[in-house]
Amino acid sequence: MTNPADSLTIRRPDDWHLHFRDGATMRAVVPHTARQFARAIVMPNLSPPVTTTALARAYRERLLEAVPEGNDFTPLMTAYLTDQTDADDLAAGFADGVLTAAKLYPAGATTNSSHGVTDIANIESVLERMAAIGMPLCVHGEVTHADIDIFDREAVFIDRILSPLVDRMPHLKVIFEHITTRQAVEFVDGAGPNVGATITPQHLHINRNAILVGGIRPHMFCLPVAKREEHRLALRRAATSGSKKYFLGTDSAPHHRHAKESDCGCAGIFNAPYALESYVEVFDEVGALGQFESFASFNGPEFYGLPVNEGSVTLEKVDVAVPEEVDGGDASIVPFHAGETLKWRLVS
Ligand code: NCD
Ligand code: ZN
Repeated sequence: MTNPADSLTIRRPDDWHLHFRDGATMRAVVPHTARQFARAIVMPNLSPPVTTTALARAYRERLLEAVPEGNDFTPLMTAYLTDQTDADDLAAGFADGVLTAAKLYPAGATTNSSHGVTDIANIESVLERMAAIGMPLCVHGEVTHADIDIFDREAVFIDRILSPLVDRMPHLKVIFEHITTRQAVEFVDGAGPNVGATITPQHLHINRNAILVGGIRPHMFCLPVAKREEHRLALRRAATSGSKKYFLGTDSAPHHRHAKESDCGCAGIFNAPYALESYVEVFDEVGALGQFESFASFNGPEFYGLPVNEGSVTLEKVDVAVPEEVDGGDASIVPFHAGETLKWRLVS
């Protein structure tokens, strides 16, 4: 790694949590991620969801067709766990290299999660099988009960679901996805090496004021929802700490402008076009540029047991203006940082 003040060259990074959708939207957004990352963990919450190895294989083909000519981007596929998931199918998909992980969506927790798991007890034997074969579990960590405040849903999930699961299955590899709270950082720090976490750029940049102060800002709304400032600061410390447990996962979640700017606006922030630029600015702000390569390029592959990428990318400290909107296939999408100027630019 070279690190003069105004330039940073790191091993090619990966995105360990991403939504690509399908069809015209997918074809519009894939090039953004392929420009920035060598690989990405592709989330399976399509409608209908990617629940089997066969569906994941077919989706991977469609994604590869959308990768621009000359780019060697590799999608890493996940299966969406349901109450009916077939452990044999998961194991076969993992053994064949079609599936890299499986994703637990508590039913009703977020976008397209209505087919998700209604009670973790229903997938106990599937999780035991995953632990036995070393297949990682990606977790959307929020409870969904109406009596639990939306700002408390992650912390309550840790106490009620995640902590008991990790105790029951100490060998299961668990990625606590898109963490948003101090409690999540404390849990991950205190857990064994089989528990890691992804952190998004938005949760490093914004707290909940960004959604509500001065008017409702639908493009700042995602799930888990951004929390108080103390939580943002805990996430910034975790991401930049040098701990191997934390790695880059954008949770880039494209929704068309009209679906966000609506009576019932969708959850999800589309950060793919300037993801590295967004993250590196945070590392620069806290004086931790030297930790960026571990977070972006080394910790994820190590956790997943995959090789690090060949090659490198370079970021320069040069202003870049983020457009107000980008092409989203059938309609436009407003990207994270729309209309702002970021201080770093990806050059190669
Ligand atoms: C994601 C989406 O739109 O698919 N939305 C979000 O707010 N993050 C789903 C998810 O990861 O929760
Ligand atoms: Zn997501």
